[in-house]
Amino acid sequence: MHFEKALITGGNGNLGRLLAKSLRDSGVATVQFDIPGSEPPDPMDEEIIVIGDVRDQALLSDTFDKHKLDAVFHLASLLSGSSEANPDEAWDINATSSYRLLKRSVDAQVKCFFFASTLATYGAGVTDPLPEQEQQWPDLLYGVTKVAVERLGVYYKLKHGLDFRCLRFPLVLSPFAPPGALTAYPSHAMKSACDGGNQFTFPVSGHIGTSTLFLDDVIQSIVSLAKADQKRLKQHVYSLHSFVLTGDMIEQAIKKRYPEFHVDYAPQPAAEHMLGGLPDVVEDQAARDDWDWQPQFDFDRTVDAMFELFSGR
Ligand SMILES: NC(=O)c1ccc[n+]([C@@H]2O[C@H](COP(=O)([O-])OP(=O)(O)OC[C@H]3O[C@@H](n4cnc5c(N)ncnc54)[C@H](O)[C@@H]3O)[C@@H](O)[C@H]2O)c1
Repeated sequence: MHFEKALITGGNGNLGRLLAKSLRDSGVATVQFDIPGSEPPDPMDEEIIVIGDVRDQALLSDTFDKHKLDAVFHLASLLSGSSEANPDEAWDINATSSYRLLKRSVDAQVKCFFFASTLATYGAGVTDPLPEQEQQWPDLLYGVTKVAVERLGVYYKLKHGLDFRCLRFPLVLSPFAPPGALTAYPSHAMKSACDGGNQFTFPVSGHIGTSTLFLDDVIQSIVSLAKADQKRLKQHVYSLHSFVLTGDMIEQAIKKRYPEFHVDYAPQPAAEHMLGGLPDVVEDQAARDDWDWQPQFDFDRTVDAMFELFSGR
């Protein structure tokens, strides 16, 4: 698949900004669209940034007209905690705005529309390892909005020929994890140790495991899927997996480097429910077969990379 100028909604976020850089490195111009307050402190000359809200249809219309976009990477979203806390806003941003963006992308005849979905589209208590064809019955609003957009994207693909591509990510381990994300505690704990802290409280029990990917593999997976030959893609949506992550594993990895660091466990019901309900292992053979998905980062390599980034090496 070849495209030249991509809109990235949520383009100043944890994944969005790195995705923009990776696309630019591969010869694709990018437009990062994100809300006020998201502006990077150190924008690069080649970064094109549009500040606005995905609910603002006039601004989106202007952005499509002005930049002659031929691909969309739709990452803007309220995440799990904020969706549950602000359900009306979550539906407007995550679902209604996605519906409008899909329609607009069909009208603009973009060559590719990528959507970032999540394991949270499955409810708690799914089969583990999670089969690729498991039913999706999310029990949190975040997952409900995401599964709705998966279905809408497939509808526009089948009915209007939109080249809709979608990945369901598990927990993403990232040094840039958003502060409020329930799933960000491993990253925040490592950073605290690296910054000289001596204690961190984990919001889930140490034995709870979750399927996980490192940030770099996530970015690579999005670019690979978007550029894959359409003829090879037999599925509408692909699940991905690299390794299982538990609080105990994070604690050990930190203590190996910072033996004095102390971890407490104060499980919060929302975090236990969400992370405890996610599978440890997700079957992702279809992605490996169809577009050669192969994660590069196992747990040890991920931890090394995170500590390197935190310590600025
Ligand atoms: N990080 C993970 O663990 C993970 C896992 C599965 C799926 N995802 C999905 O990947 C995508 C990116 O996640 P992330 O980790 O970069 O999170 P993030 O919060 O850093 O990125 C989301 C971005 O969307 C922007 N945004 C929110 N509301 C907006 C609005 N109304 N208009 C325009 N922009 C708006 C935010 O400012 C933010 O920059 C999201 O869709 C998320 O659901 C992330």
